[in-house]
Amino acid sequence: MDQKNVLFTIFGGTGDLARRKLYPSLFRLYQKGDLGEDFAVIGTARRPWSNETYHEVIKNSIASFQPSNKEAEEFASHFYYQSHNVKDTQHYDALKKLSDELDEKYSIQGNRIFYLAMSPNFFGTIVSHLKSQGLLNTNGYHRVIIEKPFGNDYQSAADLNDEINQVFTEEEIYRIDHYLGKEMIQNISAIRFANLIFESIWNNRYIDNIQISLAEDVGVEERGGYYDKSGALKDMVQNHILQMLSLLAMEPPVAFSEKEIRTEKIKALESIRMFSEEEVRKNFVRGQYVAGEIGDDQFRGYREEENVDENSLTETFVAGKFLIDNFRWSGVPFYVRTGKRLTEKGTRINVVFKQVPVNVFKDSVTGPCDQKSLAPNILTIYIQPTEGFSLTLNGKEIGQGFQTDPIKLEHRNSSDIIENTPEAYEKLLLDALNGDGTNFTHWDEVAQSWKIVDRIRETWDKDQQTPPGYRAGTMGPDEAYQLLEKEGRHWVWEPDEWYRQRG
Ligand code: BG6
Repeated sequence: MDQKNVLFTIFGGTGDLARRKLYPSLFRLYQKGDLGEDFAVIGTARRPWSNETYHEVIKNSIASFQPSNKEAEEFASHFYYQSHNVKDTQHYDALKKLSDELDEKYSIQGNRIFYLAMSPNFFGTIVSHLKSQGLLNTNGYHRVIIEKPFGNDYQSAADLNDEINQVFTEEEIYRIDHYLGKEMIQNISAIRFANLIFESIWNNRYIDNIQISLAEDVGVEERGGYYDKSGALKDMVQNHILQMLSLLAMEPPVAFSEKEIRTEKIKALESIRMFSEEEVRKNFVRGQYVAGEIGDDQFRGYREEENVDENSLTETFVAGKFLIDNFRWSGVPFYVRTGKRLTEKGTRINVVFKQVPVNVFKDSVTGPCDQKSLAPNILTIYIQPTEGFSLTLNGKEIGQGFQTDPIKLEHRNSSDIIENTPEAYEKLLLDALNGDGTNFTHWDEVAQSWKIVDRIRETWDKDQQTPPGYRAGTMGPDEAYQLLEKEGRHWVWEPDEWYRQRG
């Protein structure tokens, strides 16, 4: 059975995600021959579009690739639009009819991938109708790709999972965390498991702390309604940050396969300490942006954003410390932070190694030496927009006497390479097409992440406090700095002018 012969059905086919990410990614796969000619896409949504309107939308969404007219037409001709109310059973009958016709027309052999790119409230309804109305009565494979958020706490996620499991097995479910499709996130495993120098010191004897920063300069844009109910903790920590953390913390997998990697990630997540309320208050801080400027641009505060409650207590920034209670990581803090309207867009991991046990240079006989302590070695993994690695070492400063000086070994992916690297969604769609779930999140990972996040959220909900404000264009509230300072540490990545001036 050729996996490439496939019928995609995209629920939410008129939406932003479909236009910005899915159609361009499908086009790239098509251009590279990963899709072949025997595929079709049905876009569904409420709007009463014709196929012609839909084709225009498809062509617009791939315009930045500058395809020839012929190529754009050919690609768009694989797309079919079906106006659809997800609650209306009859619409699924129409969808089935169209699906069967396309199956025949493109010799698809019954392979179906359903992409749920719409409000999670409808996921359960959609999948149960797919089954009851016979859309899964084919001989090919059936897969469902599910966009985040997968639930909004553990219980709702578990309920949703139960509903989906009535129709699809865990192997058929592809839960998207688009960070797992990013080149440099996938590189974390290469750094760790292809380099003896790192893996042998990747533990609490040599590492002092690990820092994960996901900074965004954008605000909540037109997503105020969703974001105000979610906040940074659920929007970014429950998924992207805990996924990154599990890749950094997991034990080496027995093989680089879906099953083995999942096993290790789940173990890492299950070793994260569940904090008491008091520990949550001590180890996690929130923030909410107030008006400020980034460069020459002025930005309004979060509470002035559209569809945001003017007395909102929702956090647009969170920083915190996770501890992992296992042999490898006991005592090593994993500091994380993420927020909107920060100084710049950037995702970075800093692995800060311990100091040498003795600074033999501190009483140098060859001249006065004012260095009491040496800078720690730091491995930085630049996830985006810069992609690459750097390693900070200490060397001798050129000249008389014996002073040490930090030097940086750096590798950056060139902009040419970055431009030609498949986008996260492109990689993930191809993985789903090939039936490879490695870069999707397993239910056990999602469940454990929600349990961790729920614990933090419950304390905050109980306290009902206004998060400290931070000016748009800074790296979060003062409390985020104090979190590390009170433990004698600091954020390694510090693009914030305000903080530098603070001294
Ligand atoms: C999404 C969040 O999951 O990730 C958004 O819902 C956030 O709020 C986005 O802006 C960030 O993704 P990226 O790829 O731009 O870093």
